[in-house]
Amino acid sequence: MGNYEAVFRSSVTDREGFWLRAAQALDWHSAPSVALDDENPPFYRWFPDGELNVAYNALDRHVDAGHGDRAALIYDSPVTGTKRSYSYAQLRDEVALFAGVLRGVGVSRGDRVVIYMPMVPEAVVAMLACARLGAVHSVVFGGFAAKELAARIDDAEPAAIVSASCGIEGSRVIEYKPLLDRAIELASYSPGARVILQRPQAGAVMGSGDVDWAEAMKSAIPADPVPVKSTDPLYVLYTSGTTGKPKGVVRDCGGYATALTWSMPNVYDIRPGQTIFTASDVGWVVGHSYIVYGPLLAGATTVLYEGKPVGTPDAGQFWRVISEYGVRTMFTAPTALRVLRKEDPNGAFAQQFDLSELKYLFLAGERLDPGTFGWASDLLGIPVIDHWWQTETGWPIVANPAGIELLEIKPGSPTRPLPGWDVQVLGTDSVPVAAGEDGAIVMKLPMPPGALPTLWKDDDRFVRSYLSAFDGYYLTGDGGRIDSDGYVFVMGRTDDIINVAGHRLSTGAMEEAVSSHPDVAECAVIGTADAVKGQVPRGFVVLKAGVDTSADNYEDQLRTELVEMVRDQVGPVASLRQVTVVPALPKTRSGKILRKTMRGIADGIDDHVPSTIDDPSVLDALRTVLSKAP
Ligand code: COA
Ligand code: AMP
Repeated sequence: MGNYEAVFRSSVTDREGFWLRAAQALDWHSAPSVALDDENPPFYRWFPDGELNVAYNALDRHVDAGHGDRAALIYDSPVTGTKRSYSYAQLRDEVALFAGVLRGVGVSRGDRVVIYMPMVPEAVVAMLACARLGAVHSVVFGGFAAKELAARIDDAEPAAIVSASCGIEGSRVIEYKPLLDRAIELASYSPGARVILQRPQAGAVMGSGDVDWAEAMKSAIPADPVPVKSTDPLYVLYTSGTTGKPKGVVRDCGGYATALTWSMPNVYDIRPGQTIFTASDVGWVVGHSYIVYGPLLAGATTVLYEGKPVGTPDAGQFWRVISEYGVRTMFTAPTALRVLRKEDPNGAFAQQFDLSELKYLFLAGERLDPGTFGWASDLLGIPVIDHWWQTETGWPIVANPAGIELLEIKPGSPTRPLPGWDVQVLGTDSVPVAAGEDGAIVMKLPMPPGALPTLWKDDDRFVRSYLSAFDGYYLTGDGGRIDSDGYVFVMGRTDDIINVAGHRLSTGAMEEAVSSHPDVAECAVIGTADAVKGQVPRGFVVLKAGVDTSADNYEDQLRTELVEMVRDQVGPVASLRQVTVVPALPKTRSGKILRKTMRGIADGIDDHVPSTIDDPSVLDALRTVLSKAP
């Protein structure tokens, strides 16, 4: 145990030394002599002269040190009735072999590989195999539709795609291959080979250019790790921006591996041989960092859980996993706890299991509401730790550093900034606000290792989206405050991104889908409060003049069509269910839709009518419609 203040201070007074020391925890092919390249602001690069291989550090390094028999990955899948454990040696061998498969289909250093897979060990193997070759993976979450997958294929221009025949959502089998085939049809870019994992729950119909995973593994030649530059991309992970076009967040190799390796003992209090269970999905940043790379870089054991918190088959599965594998740290999103609380309010399931090994519950992905915090704290009797970060940052910005010193918990705050992050709250005049006052949460540049160096093939968008609002600062898109003790309170997005069941979604993408309906003149999709999912999207549409609405069930029919269009074009994960026809959308005199005002009215907090409103009577009409809407 150390002292948070002292550790944080050393990261400020001796930034170079702090991160060079952290980097020494890795095995470098060529060790870095400099920490930060700051010669080309606002573009910063970490460990510019270092060379390493991240997969080597995640696997071979531990095997070479004599820990080959230690469990690296435990796959627990209540939806298929499967449990499988991979030792470090086994996982290294699988990864080396699959890297051979990828090489065999033409993938080499710097090539992109799109991975569209459910929560199966092969998804992890595919990610690490790319890293082994110095190729760049781009994992696409399974809940996105073919159109979204196609957009990512066009942007990433992959040399190969790795997918599976199906995923399992609760009791339903979702066929992935038809979605993949459709995405390839929609995409302008024509990817190379497709490697498909056939799962027994639903086999895929293979076409020309499709390679069977199992067959290919039989004849593959294992590939050795390829040393790459620290600054080379390890992956591109697309995330929702405010427009319909997703942003390709680039992650470097050396900075990211250093930051994650530092975070495992210092934030999550996980050391070699200990077990972490991150209930998320490999399609999100949480999965990349704390199902796959962080735990393995640290020589820990990671649990890959294919199932839901409830219904697969019951609300006891998280607790079963914790007790069965001696999980020390669990990480999930608050929404998962709200689902558990709804199903099992008194925690009867938790009481059936021995949870004595569990020391911490970490939560992120959305604001941790005090009710959920209180419920989990009472149930488990351990620190329940809210922490705040984003796809862009790759690892936590603000957290209670449990492995250094457990700070006092203030419900509603993810605690204090971690080393490397200079978090500030600015007012519209670009000046820091007083302690306790609300504003835009920003980070002063440069950000620490692990944070995005740019967006894929789009330096301009990187600067435009994140660096242009306040000179010298990265704009997080979140609003909030810092109190006089230095605790950060994150209150929510200030842009058009919403957070549905811990999933980050763009209302812009949903609006694109809704407005493509022939009857719709214009529309707005906003996030409204939901007791379980945190937020759910709600659509408001204005019809084109002359549309025939005389049919009895016209609005129901329109709603069904719009919901289906969003499902089809964005994906089921968008969860758009509510659509309301309104006579007009409230706008400012310059034509900007007043989404915040609409959200207030929909949530019953009807107190924000800006003076710039064009026609206040539109709001009255909206209130009337909403008071009648289901
Ligand atoms: N592949 C295909 N479809 C998927 C999918 C995937 N990987 N993930 C979700 N979907 C589908 C769901 O089946 C659902 O479809 P439906 O509308 O036909 O029922 C839809 O997308 C919405 O999914 P979701 O919002 O996840 O709702 P849910 O009711 O299935 O589950 C939770 C709700 C809270 C249990 C679930 O979201 C969860 O466990 N969340 C944990 C948070 C998390 O993983 N956060 C990531 C960052 S930490
Ligand atoms: P993602 O990029 O998907 O990880 O989503 C990042 C966004 O989720 C952040 O910008 C926040 O809006 C929200 N978020 C994540 N963690 C927290 C948290 N602990 N508290 C409040 N909001 C959070």
